[in-house]
Amino acid sequence: MLVNDSNYKLLAHCIEQRREDEVAMKISLKKSRISQHGCHTLVVFAPPLATDKKVNLKKLDPSLNMLLQEALNEGAFSGRKKEIVFYRHAKVVGATHILFVGLGDPKIGTEAARVAGATAVLALRGQKITNVAFDLDSLTRNFKDAAHATQGLVEGIQLASYEFNDHKSKNKDKAKDEKKLTEILLVAESLPKVVENAKELGEVLAEYTNLARWFGDSPANAMTPSILAKHAQQKAKGLPLKVTIWDKARLEKENMGGILAVAQGSSQEPRFIIMEYNGGPKGQKPVCFVGKGLTFDCGGISIKPAANMDEMKYDMCGGAAVVAALLAIARLRLKVNVIGLVPSTENLVGPEAVKPGDVMVARNGKTVEILNTDAEGRLILADALSYASEQKPQVIFSTATLTGAIVVALGNIHTGLFSRDQKLVERIKKASHVTGELVWQMPVTDDHVEDMKGYHADLSNISNNKGAGSATAAAFLEQFVGEGLPFAHLDIAGTAWNVSNRLNYAPKKGAQGVMVRTFVELAKSFA
Ligand code: BES
Ligand code: ZN
Ligand code: ZN
Repeated sequence: MLVNDSNYKLLAHCIEQRREDEVAMKISLKKSRISQHGCHTLVVFAPPLATDKKVNLKKLDPSLNMLLQEALNEGAFSGRKKEIVFYRHAKVVGATHILFVGLGDPKIGTEAARVAGATAVLALRGQKITNVAFDLDSLTRNFKDAAHATQGLVEGIQLASYEFNDHKSKNKDKAKDEKKLTEILLVAESLPKVVENAKELGEVLAEYTNLARWFGDSPANAMTPSILAKHAQQKAKGLPLKVTIWDKARLEKENMGGILAVAQGSSQEPRFIIMEYNGGPKGQKPVCFVGKGLTFDCGGISIKPAANMDEMKYDMCGGAAVVAALLAIARLRLKVNVIGLVPSTENLVGPEAVKPGDVMVARNGKTVEILNTDAEGRLILADALSYASEQKPQVIFSTATLTGAIVVALGNIHTGLFSRDQKLVERIKKASHVTGELVWQMPVTDDHVEDMKGYHADLSNISNNKGAGSATAAAFLEQFVGEGLPFAHLDIAGTAWNVSNRLNYAPKKGAQGVMVRTFVELAKSFA
């Protein structure tokens, strides 16, 4: 048993460790001419086709061009994003079946490849097909950069293959009969080293995004603060990554008043997860990532309504992203120094729970009156940001499912981005373009800070005025960041789960693993 914990014991069948080899698709590269390869089903990618011209895609076998022409004439396929046409028993270029996948606009870059990879996997899953080759050249020749296209494709395949079935009892007979796609070959005429490396990079990014999803999807009784911390430690084994866990006694010694205040209402002990990776030159100031690891948020005494409260198991998705990003950064041996910090607790209503009006002292000595116990994320982040600032970092990024207000403002499309450092904003936007994780800059100003001033303490944990709930939350966080330190905060309350209406590589319901890839990309930008 991972943790001796009564909550966890409820799940007698609960797995100790996520088994990567059981959950990922096996993707291999093969150097061959597609017509000579011979396979059961061949996946071919096609860019948007002009209706007024004869279909004649360069370097594509005439038989494939003919099939595309046929589909275009019938109005069945025109190469748009998420579009497919499946030819059974086409028996061309050495394959039995052919699946065409639309690319949409390849200028969109890695994201177009990611979506196309997911489109293919979803279509094949429906057909119960198992022996598959992808014509990699038909994808890469449409992109400016073959490596980026390959990376995106691999990410799309692996992300779309993610499933969360840990707590469903298995029907062994059914599982035996079920044909499941477990292996995909990517076939190309030439395979330069950059393409091979891009494939590996895509694999790592998807693996850790899926791990963050798994942290998020696991129910709160299987993902308590202590269990999350244990997973961070276990996953770091064999990687050049130092993981230190502070328990409640240590948190008391270290004056982590925010984490302790929020944890008071729960029988679960809080944890502070510190992950340190030193891949950069000695003395290089670290890049700090901080993530909210609230494993369940019922709101505390200021309790939330019952409807959809189960979704508050996802309130640790920021923390999950930081843990997963640090693991990925270490796996990739990036040449940069990075620290990941995750304050983790439950927010419940036990007899010791903080009450509206209670005052707490954060690690940096600032006092906060807790006027709404449901605004708890900022309280635990306050301590973590204070600690981060003490590490003399070159920059601090925080991410959290922080406010319902950001869901109202941006829905599940964009992550809210708050920073007063415009250069940092541009850097984040650039990273987000590569990873496909959209961000939208929101304001944070001195007026918002003013709204967070306390009456009986230095600060209040909710605004004195109406509206701007996400900006005032960001302004509150700023109060715990050291003077002059570049800081950006990403509010993922809208983008952390249930986003499949837009993203076909995201699970229908469940955690998205958002910000893992953007944080890795950001770390790279400081290398
Ligand atoms: N975890 C919630 C934010 C949240 C709400 C995330 C809905 C995703 C969906 C956070 O702890 C919270 O409850 N925030 C309050 C703050 C308010 C009391 C100032 C909110 O947004 O309502
Ligand atoms: Zn809350
Ligand atoms: Zn919360």
